Amino acid sequence: MSEETARLQRDALLATAREAARGAYAPYSKFHVGAALLLEDGTVVTGANVENASYGLSLCAETVAIAKILSTGKTPKLEAVAVTGGLAGAPGAGDTVTPCGRCRQVLNELAQLGGTDPVVWSDGAEGPLEMRLSEMLPHAFGPAHLGITGRG
Ligand code: THU
Repeated sequence: MSEETARLQRDALLATAREAARGAYAPYSKFHVGAALLLEDGTVVTGANVENASYGLSLCAETVAIAKILSTGKTPKLEAVAVTGGLAGAPGAGDTVTPCGRCRQVLNELAQLGGTDPVVWSDGAEGPLEMRLSEMLPHAFGPAHLGITGRG
């Protein structure tokens, strides 16, 4: 893939994540997060954060997207992840939002099952940040540690 194609793919996935953030239910933090996950077959699955009056029960955007994918009964290859977030009214315009620690672990579950190391793009005021999941979560603990290599 040419650099230009990769840049277009990144920008398109970030735009989809921004759109997904519009669906956030975040009345407590007012911090709207959107995630867009690109699968090997070109499918894009989105998620937005879903908060709860019992704050600790809130779901992150990335976790919602992973739950959507894994609850289809499949374990597709996860190629890329785009994340965007910001205070309501200004999503994508704030600081660079990278997946939280728990989300890195949740993303790792599908990445390892599908045998990929997805690129993670984060929106931010200074332009997109690009990292591999393995850079964000080095020496990851995953399904293989428990003998799980597929859905079983
Ligand atoms: N949040 C996400 O959705 N993903 C992350 O990776 C970081 C945090 C959400 C959780 C909560 O609803 C809001 O952002 C503020 O923490």
